[in-house]
Amino acid sequence: DSFVIDWRAHCTSTNSALIEATPADDGFIHVLIADRQSAGRGRRGRQWLSWDDGSLTFSALWRFAPGAPVPAGLSLVAGLALARALEELGAQGVQLKWPNDVLIHGDKLAGILVELLPGRGRTPAAVIGIGINLQLPADAQVPEQRGVTDLAHALDSAPPTRATVLAAVLAELRSLLDTYAAAGFVALRDAWQQRNAFADLPVCISGEAETLQGICRGVDEDGALLLETAVGMRRVLVGDVSLRAG
Ligand code: ATP
Ligand code: BTN
Repeated sequence: DSFVIDWRAHCTSTNSALIEATPADDGFIHVLIADRQSAGRGRRGRQWLSWDDGSLTFSALWRFAPGAPVPAGLSLVAGLALARALEELGAQGVQLKWPNDVLIHGDKLAGILVELLPGRGRTPAAVIGIGINLQLPADAQVPEQRGVTDLAHALDSAPPTRATVLAAVLAELRSLLDTYAAAGFVALRDAWQQRNAFADLPVCISGEAETLQGICRGVDEDGALLLETAVGMRRVLVGDVSLRAG
């Protein structure tokens, strides 16, 4: 009921195109979806690969209330919305890798890229970009990625259409963003932690300046990762950091 959807044949990156378009502040969540993305992006300028019908690539622009806290937990909220939508479609064992990946049996099924738009005198906004593998080609090669999977594998059948998956994700996103706006990440924390792929496991967090090792003890009320290290509990903020099994 509350979306404006622009479905294009082609985009370089739906995140870039939506940021460029800066849709009106009209109370709707503006969504841009592309049949084909030629320059899909991950974090730190990394590539996101997609295969036309075999992938769902879209971005949603969400405006948060003026004066709202910096939405650090947004990529976790989006991840939870994705996980719940995939579960509704029948996928089992969906897990979340902090801060922005969706895994099944340790393999990456979907990724999220949240980018903040400066307010420029208007309400600040976030672009939430989502890429989901529906059905990878048999010879798909994803650089740097340890394990990749798709929804067809998770369901052991032909995947639902992109429109079906999009509708399921948008419905969850709408509902979880409403909860997040009203009550903050803390209201979604338990649901996120139930799906934490690395709960109580040793992990390595590498950022620009340092690498931390410890046991993943979930996330705090803001979505920061709690890492139990040899020198005590550390909070790791959502940012340009990577988590690996350690
Ligand atoms: P990290 O694991 O370091 O936190 P990330 O998994 O969050 O990184 P990004 O930093 O956002 O990933 O970069 C995108 C990465 O996703 C690419 O480097 C590539 O390895 C992987 N990737 C690209 N396309 C796909 C795809 N269709 N399915 C799964 N993984 C992909
Ligand atoms: C990640 O690697 O984990 C994040 C990948 C995000 C990919 C999606 S596809 C739709 C949107 N447009 C982009 O250029 N990136 C995001």
